[in-house]
Amino acid sequence: MDKIRNRKRQINHEVMQIKTGRYIYNLNYPSYEKESCEIEVRSLFKFDLKEKVFLASSKVHPSISPFLKSRLEIIYKASTFLELIELTTKGKITASDFMVKYMELGIDDPHFTKRREYCKTMGLVIGGLACFTSPKITFGITFYQGNWYFGNLTERSLYWKKHNNKPHSYSSSIGLSTAKVLINIAGNGDTSKRLIDPCCGVGTVLLEGIWAGYDIIGCEINRKTAENARKNLRHFNYEATVITGDIQDIDDRFDAAIVDLPYGNFSLKND
Ligand SMILES: C[S@@+](CC[C@H](N)C(=O)[O-])C[C@H]1O[C@@H](n2cnc3c(N)ncnc32)[C@H](O)[C@@H]1O
Repeated sequence: MDKIRNRKRQINHEVMQIKTGRYIYNLNYPSYEKESCEIEVRSLFKFDLKEKVFLASSKVHPSISPFLKSRLEIIYKASTFLELIELTTKGKITASDFMVKYMELGIDDPHFTKRREYCKTMGLVIGGLACFTSPKITFGITFYQGNWYFGNLTERSLYWKKHNNKPHSYSSSIGLSTAKVLINIAGNGDTSKRLIDPCCGVGTVLLEGIWAGYDIIGCEINRKTAENARKNLRHFNYEATVITGDIQDIDDRFDAAIVDLPYGNFSLKND
């Protein structure tokens, strides 16, 4: 009897985890971008990055970062996989067109065949139809720091790399990863913030700001370059104002400015 009561108490405790809004994130970076990644994590999560896998309470979509890979929104936590299955069964989780994936963390990941087995076992206790081609919901399971987790898995989309194919670029353009990091430093992941790039060039930062969901405008002194920024935005069907003008004449208020200064260089584009 005591055993059952203890088990019930334990399950109740675990179910409480649903309400805490905790997320497991994993990320990766090339060694030369370590510092950019650390600054970005500090800006988005407000702590110093120690490991490439971490728990956080902020909800950040992995696709806004060049480094985040996936996010598991925790629904259940258990000390064994069997307990995790028990919790999910009791929770009567139901979804249509769902898929279960193992969130690989690069530490203590089971072998591929074992991971597939875990996903299959979990899939069998979730109500509704599974879909492996175009799932509407992806559930994730993972083992992290001695515990098993089940939740909603969000994986990054690399679709933003299409911005590399913007029709207009020039020698002063910055890279997409840098532009994304700058957006995250300025916006802290809070898309209610209003941003400006007052020397926007061909709009590299604007593209990443819009992709991340910000209200962002640009200003550019060179008429031709400003027009190219507008053309780049139109190419992706993005809407953002690009003012042709001098940074000194901006007479409006913003939460943050991302300024990629010309450093005395000026690239004239005649085409
Ligand atoms: C380093 S580039 C910006 C490049 C941009 N981040 C991109 O990736 O396309 C600096 C830009 O500032 C513009 N600029 C120079 N002086 C300016 C001023 N006083 N007001 C606004 N823009 C200015 C230049 O024409 C140039 O396009």
